[in-house]
Amino acid sequence: MNKYGVKILGTGSFMPPKVLTNADLEKMVQTSDEWITTRTGIKERRIADEKTATSDLAIEAAKKALEEAKLKPEDIDMIIVATVTPDMSFPSTACFVQKGLGASRAAAFDLAAACSGFIYGISIAKNFIENGTYKHILLIGAETLSKITDWQDRNTCVLFGDGAGAMVLARTEGPSSLLSVYLGADGNYDKLLILPGGGSRNPVSKETMDNRLHFIKMAGKEVFKVAVTKMAEAAEKALEAAGKTPADLDLIIPHQANLRIIEAIAKRMDYPLEKVYVNLHKYGNVSAATTIVALDEARKEGRVKEGSLLELVAFGGGFTWGAAVIQL
Ligand SMILES: CC(C)(COP(=O)(O)OP(=O)(O)OC[C@H]1O[C@@H](n2cnc3c(N)ncnc32)[C@H](O)[C@@H]1OP(=O)(O)O)[C@@H](O)C(=O)NCCC(=O)NCCS
Repeated sequence: MNKYGVKILGTGSFMPPKVLTNADLEKMVQTSDEWITTRTGIKERRIADEKTATSDLAIEAAKKALEEAKLKPEDIDMIIVATVTPDMSFPSTACFVQKGLGASRAAAFDLAAACSGFIYGISIAKNFIENGTYKHILLIGAETLSKITDWQDRNTCVLFGDGAGAMVLARTEGPSSLLSVYLGADGNYDKLLILPGGGSRNPVSKETMDNRLHFIKMAGKEVFKVAVTKMAEAAEKALEAAGKTPADLDLIIPHQANLRIIEAIAKRMDYPLEKVYVNLHKYGNVSAATTIVALDEARKEGRVKEGSLLELVAFGGGFTWGAAVIQL
């Protein structure tokens, strides 16, 4: 039996203002609005300017979540930033966020689970709060994928975007909003979605640069198939752990990578598409930020409210996957 429950006190999101449309991409690579729309559902994405790093977006999203939570930065005990586009290898992006907010009491670290990072973060926050270690955790998903996108590769550059979302989770004596979290991973799929250069395996060199190893590489078709299977499986496992069925859910918020993936998951779960949240037409795939940005927008649009039962489900490089059942 857990000592405490977890309440979501606030959410916030921040998307950089610059919009890159499919028409803009038509001028950059051999593609078309028609191809991108029918294959992915994406119409436009947001792009951070040259001077903007991931922590800059994260800080803006965090400020909004803190304001809604009616907390000061000093009230935060821990900051977790899920990202695959940290400002630097170190210090962590979470440390830059801590400094930017003035969250002087907070421990801070980054979490690398690619597009599933926010769900992994929910699991960590849940455990730290439920076992009584911390009262207030700021969990952020933030990315500037435009900085690791190969703008000459039409297979990938149409898919990704930049943005950040944040959530403030707090200890409660009442029942927990986080009913269950399910996580999974399989490193055997490492090569299908990968940024090979810049780490200790292939340190930055002229050769890594010439071979464009500092950009995302993806085998789209293969990723697609596993994404559908694993997200549907994760959604079902988390529901089972929460003692719920798909029919109980008010909304599913899936990772926003491709509308066809989302449709395939809904079909597999025999779940109505009208109760699935989609915003990828505006933002594309923003990796660790997608589910929290979508949850924030769903809350602000009134698609979910106090008492609503929803499920977040994500899939990403690694491969990693996960799902969380939440009663707001
Ligand atoms: C990438 C993705 C949209 C491609 O869709 P697809 O239906 O699988 O398309 P294919 O890979 O079969 O490519 C079909 C053709 O379109 C071409 N193509 C690829 N990108 C294109 C683009 N932007 N514009 C025009 N044509 C393009 C390919 O070169 C290929 O041409 P060919 O048949 O002459 O070789 C899709 O596979 C996908 O979304 N995969 C999952 C990606 C994902 O979610 N990643 C993140 C997970 S977190």
